Amino acid sequence: MKHKVGIIGCGGIAHQKHLPALMNAAERIEIVACCDIIIERAIEVAKNYGTTECKVFEDYKELVKVEDIEIVYVLTPNVSHCPITVAAFEAGKHVMCEKPMAASVEDAQQMMDAWKKSGKLFTIGYQNRYRADSQTLKRLCDENELGEIYYAQAHALRRRGVPTWGVFTDKAQQGGGPLIDIGTHSLDLTLWFMDNYEPAAVTGATFEKLGHTLSPKEQGNLMGPWDPDTFEVEDAAFGFVTMKNGALITIDASWILNHTEERCASSYLCGTKAGAELTGLAGADDEKLYLNKIMGGKQVLIEANTSAGGVDLFPGKTVKSYDVECKVWLDAIEGKGELVVKPEQAFTVTKILDAVYKSARSGKQVVF
Ligand SMILES: NC(=O)c1ccc[n+]([C@@H]2O[C@H](COP(=O)([O-])OP(=O)(O)OC[C@H]3O[C@@H](n4cnc5c(N)ncnc54)[C@H](O)[C@@H]3O)[C@@H](O)[C@H]2O)c1
Repeated sequence: MKHKVGIIGCGGIAHQKHLPALMNAAERIEIVACCDIIIERAIEVAKNYGTTECKVFEDYKELVKVEDIEIVYVLTPNVSHCPITVAAFEAGKHVMCEKPMAASVEDAQQMMDAWKKSGKLFTIGYQNRYRADSQTLKRLCDENELGEIYYAQAHALRRRGVPTWGVFTDKAQQGGGPLIDIGTHSLDLTLWFMDNYEPAAVTGATFEKLGHTLSPKEQGNLMGPWDPDTFEVEDAAFGFVTMKNGALITIDASWILNHTEERCASSYLCGTKAGAELTGLAGADDEKLYLNKIMGGKQVLIEANTSAGGVDLFPGKTVKSYDVECKVWLDAIEGKGELVVKPEQAFTVTKILDAVYKSARSGKQVVF
């Protein structure tokens, strides 16, 4: 029997990631319902990807009532992740929700409570974890090749990279700008590599200097001009995170920053035995893994070749991270494996991002 899937939110990430991944797993799933507040989008997805009887809804509350749906995908703007996920858990569904978990820590807490009550599975769409190079670096960290990681940087910087589709610059819909949108990927990976989910305190700063002042002529945006009159989020955000074990993580995230690199998105780790840098996160396309260490008394920089042999989770094949994400998710539902992105981990990412915003607003350190 195939797993019956309901899709809520039929926009960018549905088309770029989840629908292709689900179609590549078509022997295991079928899409039996689609929902979007823009009904034409749900109709189009139902027609192109759904079963012949695929149902279409404008209101997610109707979709979650469909009894035979087992898995709900929440692919809507950040602010609706919470109400939709909570409704799906209350209706007894497993939930794959897009990143970040929620627009605020309060929302994320409600989602965690509903998940725990439901006894169902919950994961968040941090697909970078399934890349071959991320898997390699995670293994090196777990095998203590880097020693104790006590300093890390989570970068997600774009000089001019404002997303101009969807509602990314709408604060009420997204909860924030580049930090919550792309900083979330770099921070998620950094915490995972460090296997450290215990923040002690966060200091943050955000800047709103350029997004609402630059005219389309002055912007030079990679994704076409944005509207300065509706740009409500930060241009850039910075965080200084101390962990309970004394480790330090710095976070920087921007869509608009006069920075030398056009795009630079990486997780940078410094350990007692070696260091590492994983690049190419958050839409930057320079995927590389570098290790640095002292060998034979000399400083050595190694560029890992992780393209051969696929990833551990999907051995022997060169596969896309989104296919691995989907496979791991379906395997976990079938009791054949563990989730890679665990709800508690994604919750900690949201806690830290939320604290950066709160600290920036108050001018004070947030202590956990
Ligand atoms: N994993 C990644 O790398 C990645 C990349 C891009 C976006 N995302 C995440 O995916 C989510 C959606 O982003 P997107 O780029 O697809 O945006 P989008 O605007 O292209 O698509 C969102 C869709 O949801 C619909 N929608 C909005 N509110 C709804 C509601 N209450 N009920 C049903 N449908 C609703 C919209 O009409 C739209 O069609 C965001 O949380 C974003 O952070 C993740």
